Amino acid sequence: MDTEEFRRYGTDMVNYIADYYDTLRSRLPTPDVQEGYLRKLIPEQAPTEAESYDDVKKDLEDVIMKGVLHWRSPHFHGYIGIAGSFPALIGDMLVGALSSNSFSWVSNPASTELEVCMMDWLGQMLNLPEEFLFSSGGKGGGVIQRTADDSVLVAIIAARSRSIRQHKDMTPGQTLDKLVAYTSEEAHSCIKKAAQLALVTIRNLPTDANFSLRGETLAAAIKEDKSKGLIPFFLGASVGTTSTIAIDNLCELGPICERENMWMHIDGAYAGSAAICPELRYVINGVEYSTSFCLNPHKWLHVNKSCSAMWVKNREFITEAFSVDVEYLKNHKLHGDTTMPDYRNWQIQLSRPFTSLKVWFVLRMFGVKGLQDRIRKDVTLAKEFETLVLGDDRFEIVAEVNLGVVCFKLKGDNGLNRELSKRINDDRRVYLTPSISKGVFFLRFVVTVHNIESSDVTYAWSVIQEQADLLLKSQVNAAS
Ligand SMILES: Cc1ncc(COP(=O)(O)O)c(C=O)c1O
Repeated sequence: MDTEEFRRYGTDMVNYIADYYDTLRSRLPTPDVQEGYLRKLIPEQAPTEAESYDDVKKDLEDVIMKGVLHWRSPHFHGYIGIAGSFPALIGDMLVGALSSNSFSWVSNPASTELEVCMMDWLGQMLNLPEEFLFSSGGKGGGVIQRTADDSVLVAIIAARSRSIRQHKDMTPGQTLDKLVAYTSEEAHSCIKKAAQLALVTIRNLPTDANFSLRGETLAAAIKEDKSKGLIPFFLGASVGTTSTIAIDNLCELGPICERENMWMHIDGAYAGSAAICPELRYVINGVEYSTSFCLNPHKWLHVNKSCSAMWVKNREFITEAFSVDVEYLKNHKLHGDTTMPDYRNWQIQLSRPFTSLKVWFVLRMFGVKGLQDRIRKDVTLAKEFETLVLGDDRFEIVAEVNLGVVCFKLKGDNGLNRELSKRINDDRRVYLTPSISKGVFFLRFVVTVHNIESSDVTYAWSVIQEQADLLLKSQVNAAS
């Protein structure tokens, strides 16, 4: 493809994407395909001869779109949403076009320098303590990881290395055997997976009635483990659990971690972004106690995947664990000295894209106010949905609604709610994903799609009510 063809096909694809967004409401969010559907639609081998753009595009609807779950649909209310926006898409085009590898300052000075500035901009928007920012001139700073999973894995490995260094009286293997990490039973699987990969024991601690991990629970677990000669070293706290968006009590947990010389990592993958609104800043109260903190702009700040922002108070904890110096990767300076980070030493993989570029497009083209407005709109729409649920006495709310997710269920047992969830998704007009907390099965209504309106909320509720009517009637019929 030459540049003229790229111009033509690129424009065509931009138009296809714009049409896709314009017509999203008319597509059912859920695909109607069976497992293995795609293999039957494409040849068994890659084409030997080049095919044209038109040949590929012809198959887009029938092969690809046929099996796409439309996460950008205003009728998609599953999981925890994934953010996206046109400014981010435009930035992403340029990221792809530059195709740079930003593993050190010298490998792409603009990328490293923009990332440093963007992490400070984001940190200021969240009103993070100064010590997390590069601009403080201290040891803190931020990095863009791919996902919250990467962020917590980096944190736990860095914490593990720090503990091993601190226990000089034992071999690394002996220390490793004694290390204990903690998280809540409600925390995202990424914290548990990080501990699994780091080969450390993790305890999933019980939460209070609001699904929040409390200080006294952590303190009791630490006491018990220390009495067995174990070494508590890490807490994976949550600001917004996936299931119910519960917030751990950081102000109780933080001082305990400080006292016990433990690393407190906060996973604020979704809910952390809410803190850019002054009235919602409370969600990260206690962040000042954390050693590291992460949120995903790809969840609620309109940067499309993958973009997880992670801050640390002391970047040396990470670089001491992650640095590997080989000649061909050294930061051979272009001109004089640089104090810029070599981001390859802050992460697992070597290669890294110029992700800060799309953050830059988003922060500039939305402005802080624009991003705050979007978060406020989502919270308002979630509240609207909650009001609808509360207005139907067959239903109940399962967890306090503070942000953009509503956890609700039919009054009745897990079996009834499982059946309702299945019927709603089989119907395909709206998409919801259920969860279980403390043994209770419930449905979740998630608002994070950029183009959702109040009418989409009432539409979803009408579909849910219709399915509930049918279900409850079928039960009455079966009983009579
Ligand atoms: C609380 C929480 N943490 C971590 C993650 C993982 O997010 P990702 O893999 O998109 O970074 C999720 C995903 O929904 C989440 O809800």
